Amino acid sequence: MSAVQENSASASGPVLVLGIETSCDETAAGVVRRGADGRGEILSNVVRSQIEDHALYGGVVPEIAARAHIAMLDGIVRRAMEEAGVAFADLDAVAATAGPGLIGGVIVGLMTAKAIALAADTPLVAVNHLEAHALTARLTDGVAFPYLMLLVSGGHTQFVLARGVGDYVRLGSTIDDALGEAFDKTAKLLGLPYPGGPAVERAARTGDGTRFDLPRPLLNRPGLDMSFAGLKTAVRVAAERAAPVSDQDVADLCASFQEAAADVVASRARRALKEFAEMFPAIEPVLVIAGGVAANTRLRHGLDEAARETGARLVAPPIHLCTDNAAMIAWAGAERFALGLVDPLDVSPRPRWPLDGTAKPMLGEGRKGAKV
Ligand code: KG4
Ligand code: ZN
Repeated sequence: MSAVQENSASASGPVLVLGIETSCDETAAGVVRRGADGRGEILSNVVRSQIEDHALYGGVVPEIAARAHIAMLDGIVRRAMEEAGVAFADLDAVAATAGPGLIGGVIVGLMTAKAIALAADTPLVAVNHLEAHALTARLTDGVAFPYLMLLVSGGHTQFVLARGVGDYVRLGSTIDDALGEAFDKTAKLLGLPYPGGPAVERAARTGDGTRFDLPRPLLNRPGLDMSFAGLKTAVRVAAERAAPVSDQDVADLCASFQEAAADVVASRARRALKEFAEMFPAIEPVLVIAGGVAANTRLRHGLDEAARETGARLVAPPIHLCTDNAAMIAWAGAERFALGLVDPLDVSPRPRWPLDGTAKPMLGEGRKGAKV
């Protein structure tokens, strides 16, 4: 089944889109305007983090997440519309994350968007959450295709070549844990609170990153794949050897872990940028970063150096737009809508949905008879 419908009223003028995000532990709604010139403006971006709902369990509990989305989403949508000063009738489209993510949450957001689409007689855009991360740099910095994206979040760690809306090539990804997951697990095993990434970064500030000689997995292998599970295990072994661990030991372990993780990512980024330069010699290489781990200062520093060494530009959207939010979903919806890509009301939520499987705009013959 093609998930994409041709939108006969394909918009080249300004478009106004409501976006809804519920795929993990943020309940979010926001409104974005995309001008006829392709520039974006965020009119509202309301994000309610569920961190406190899950903190007791040391990680996201899918059932609790889905229930909290149900309880909060209607009010958050209302607030997003009020803050933007628009009515449902003003919208050109309503967009929601349709995957990948925790399926209970995705269903809540997508069903809400479908209800709004039906009631307001507005087209629906089913957004791939990863595409929304990938397109954020076009909203914030107007980055032109093609560019490289490094997505580093709790669920994903991958280098992607973004060639156009709906046109992505995954160049490499983690073969085991996502980087955010490795930060979270490292925090947990060292007795630090959830979410682990910010806790590890905080502890690392007073730590000695050279004290523990941790591995840099896959570093000498060709390609752009990464691995973080061994690194996390090495932290466990080092912590067991040092037991009972003092606060200073924890700080040193966190700093050493962060150094190793940042080295791996920066080294892969260098290689990815070189590959990009070979593919597109006439284009200034741009590396955009997305995902919660992009908040990490040490990681950013390593990527910045990698970019400068290879003559590339690093684009790092503000942190609140790197982590899960609704403006990025609304923006992805607006970009797709502007190309005539809308979805039928029976589109299915997808727990797994690789970015390279996202529908592209079909130009020319194939496009004409596109049916649901
Ligand atoms: O993109 P995101 O908000 O949610 C998804 O996973 O989709 O990313 C959350 C992840 C968590 O694993 C969290 O620990 C990590 O990003 N994170 C960080 C930092 N802030 C958040 N990791 C390292 N350093 C940080 N400062
Ligand atoms: Zn995300």
